[in-house]
Amino acid sequence: MLFGTQQIGDDGHLEVGGCDTVELANEFGTPLYVVDEVHLRQQCQQYRQSFAERLPAATICFASKALTTTAICRIMDQESLSLEVSSAGELYTAIQAGFPPERILLHGNFKLDQELQMALDVGVARVIVDSLSELHRLAEMGRSAGTQADICLRVVPGIKPQTHSYVQTGQIDTKFGLHIGTGAAAEGVRTATELPGVALRGLHCHIGSQMFELDSFARAADIMIEFMAQMRDEFGVTLDELNLGGGLGIAYTSEDAPPDIAELADVIAEAVQQATDKYNYPVPEIVLEPGRSIVGTAGLTLYTVGPVKEIPGVRTYVAVDGGLSDNPRPALYGAEYTAVVANRANQARTMPVRLVGRHCESDTLIEEVALAPVQEGDIVAVFSTGAYHYSMASNYNRFPRPAMVLVRDGQADVIVRRESLDDLVRQDVMPERLR
Ligand code: LLP
Repeated sequence: MLFGTQQIGDDGHLEVGGCDTVELANEFGTPLYVVDEVHLRQQCQQYRQSFAERLPAATICFASKALTTTAICRIMDQESLSLEVSSAGELYTAIQAGFPPERILLHGNFKLDQELQMALDVGVARVIVDSLSELHRLAEMGRSAGTQADICLRVVPGIKPQTHSYVQTGQIDTKFGLHIGTGAAAEGVRTATELPGVALRGLHCHIGSQMFELDSFARAADIMIEFMAQMRDEFGVTLDELNLGGGLGIAYTSEDAPPDIAELADVIAEAVQQATDKYNYPVPEIVLEPGRSIVGTAGLTLYTVGPVKEIPGVRTYVAVDGGLSDNPRPALYGAEYTAVVANRANQARTMPVRLVGRHCESDTLIEEVALAPVQEGDIVAVFSTGAYHYSMASNYNRFPRPAMVLVRDGQADVIVRRESLDDLVRQDVMPERLR
């Protein structure tokens, strides 16, 4: 299972972006996040082209929560994508990277006043309003500043997609958005059209993440357009923007067979066409917010192998020099991965092992994976770690967070420096009375 520019060199080493991963590990240390720039850009282009062919007014907006660094924001800008941010921190990172605010959307189910103010001050394209209370707060800010905030309302269509329950967000039982079923969404539309401090531009929904089944996207489009037609009939407001969120899944193991981006574009374009015909509604501008499916397979993590413990009749444990702190997804979602011994990537995978981290927890990275015979000091590469790894990393056990390098054409550039031990104590304060 190789992605993008990954290949196996003549010496049996795994390569990515024209760089030998074993050399990367030696030069930059491990654990190391590696991002394949060519593959990342190809994913951006595939999204833009696939949707432009079918829905010419479509906007592709990278969900920066999947991976936010200034260099990644710069690449998204160069690839003409818009950017979805969901906190002051993500917005600040984008602005620091010089990302144009007029292509930024602000999300969040509880945006702080400072975040809303920051969004108004920098002039983001849209605030995706998640609750009636936020709508009133934002409208008041807009009114007192003598402006109007351009908003979309996040609406819950009432769909439960097939994915991990922790990342289902389209169903009735969710903290996000305004429900169509309860009347809250209609109330939001009515209120938004009446308040002078906001300008309602469209609607948003995001039904889930890591989804393989495209029918959920089609059903979401249908329900949303039906609702838009109802709002036109009830309140005389014709909204011309429909944001369908993100959610397309990726392959973490060779058993995963996600649909490709062109198939997603086909399904959405057809569903939009059918629904607009059915409800006699003008085709809205479609916005997509992919995160994982842009950056997930462009990333891999390199680790150095530590102790290998064979427990006869039970299993072999292979410890690596990272774990829960650089990849919390197995613990959080039971996520599965695959891996390869990067310095022996051409050898038969004859050794079933459990790959574990080095935290004071049973932090399993992969429950069972067949590797080439692996020894202490080897380099292991875990695939598909571009999305929701660095962005969800922690300092548990006071582990410094890993560095990240961007590789392309044999060149590797650090885009996130490895944290130091000093970084770990930088925010600590020793009160006078303890000195
Ligand atoms: N738009 C909104 C409003 C979202 O909440 C999300 C993800 C996205 C777009 C992007 O979804 P994607 O295309 O990446 O599926 N930490 C979890 C994933 C949480 C997703 C949260 N929202 C994981 O590691 O699987």
